[in-house]
Amino acid sequence: MSGEVSEQGPPQALARVKAIHNGGQLLYLQFLNGNYLWLAIKDSMEFEVGDWALVGDERIDYAPEELWPDERWLGIVKSKLPDLTILDASGHLRFVPTNEVDYEIGNTVLVTDHGVDRVIDERPLRRDSDPLDESALAPYIVPPSGNLDFSKFGGLKDVVQRAMQLVEATLVKREKLKAIKARPIKGVLFTGDPGTGKTMLARIIAKETQSVLYRIRGPEFVSKWVGESEEVLRMIFDDAAEQKRAIVFFDEIDSVAGRREENDHDASRRIVATLLTMMDRAEPEENVLVLATTNRPDDIDEALLRAGRFDWTIEFPKPSHEDRVEILAIGAARHTVKGDLPLATVAAQTEGWTAADLDLIWAEASLFAVSDEREAIMAEDFVAGFQRVQEQFNLKRVNERRRVAQE
Ligand SMILES: Nc1ncnc2c1ncn2[C@@H]1O[C@H](COP(=O)(O)OP(=O)(O)OP(=O)(O)O)[C@@H](O)[C@H]1O
Ligand SMILES: [Mg+2]
Repeated sequence: MSGEVSEQGPPQALARVKAIHNGGQLLYLQFLNGNYLWLAIKDSMEFEVGDWALVGDERIDYAPEELWPDERWLGIVKSKLPDLTILDASGHLRFVPTNEVDYEIGNTVLVTDHGVDRVIDERPLRRDSDPLDESALAPYIVPPSGNLDFSKFGGLKDVVQRAMQLVEATLVKREKLKAIKARPIKGVLFTGDPGTGKTMLARIIAKETQSVLYRIRGPEFVSKWVGESEEVLRMIFDDAAEQKRAIVFFDEIDSVAGRREENDHDASRRIVATLLTMMDRAEPEENVLVLATTNRPDDIDEALLRAGRFDWTIEFPKPSHEDRVEILAIGAARHTVKGDLPLATVAAQTEGWTAADLDLIWAEASLFAVSDEREAIMAEDFVAGFQRVQEQFNLKRVNERRRVAQE
């Protein structure tokens, strides 16, 4: 104990005990500014690692608990393992032990080094000081694909024609439609089984009508910070309104906009509400069309199907025999082939297959050609490829039936 007490009092600083040596006589301290200090103490003092001390020039005291800095921090739960929890703390990943506090992935929580203290909000809170800028739009703008055009889309002539008619009426001939006082078309819904070409056609149409295409994919879009999805959605619509022509494309919309009573996921409910506002707000002068795809039309929130929203639906059927020949011919044109391939014969045997199913034949056919050291796909490879895919489908069906029977 030394010195006179000056008017300001002796300077002392808070430091944390990081390590103890020499039977408790040597402390390794860390100050709040990050500096370290070794300090010898009297053996009558009993510090423990983690304690806070008040350190002055020639003296050290126990820091009263009121002075201990709040060491709790806010984090978003990213992953919860039995023994370890990973959190996002202002953009840095940190981990703490998992404890008995009840919390889930996505919660905003108060945390100490010992684990989660409590849940502050069920939702991941985002800092308002992180305003979204233009770059937030970038992931949603689909650059026009160089070689994609109508010639790559086989069959489904009625679908293509109908889709083009609706899109052109909206984006290209809106003035004329307005002159005859027709109700503007705001949203068109593409329905149909997986692999029937919904996404592909949307991309082709955007390119052929020289529209800027914004693509929002359901599942990825929801798992964002609170409020961010809605903000991005508003930005997309604002940006779209400034373009000569634009298509806002909701791919697999059922995953964001499922029926609300079944889907009480907060985030998707807010996204649907924002989408509804945006669609209702859209001025007829804006050359913006909203396209959406789904293979579960019955699962879509009814509010979206009401007049003035997605009130036009185009169903993508499975390709007909003629369609399948065309789709296979397009596939052939994409590959290196030699000689005549029995496209019509295979088309005749693939009733019920989608375009995506037919595409698989080429992958298998290529394997056969390569294994046999050929430089091009020949008829025998094509047929073998078809048979291989067919076998796999049969196998899948058998397994599916077995699974259903077991349930
Ligand atoms: N009419 C078509 N002509 C040629 N190829 C097609 C056609 N339709 C689909 N394809 C092929 O099938 C693939 C899958 O199609 P696409 O992704 O458009 O299906 P989808 O209907 O969007 O399916 P999902 O519902 O699973 O999203 C395409 O990448 C393309 O290679
Ligand atoms: Mg798709």
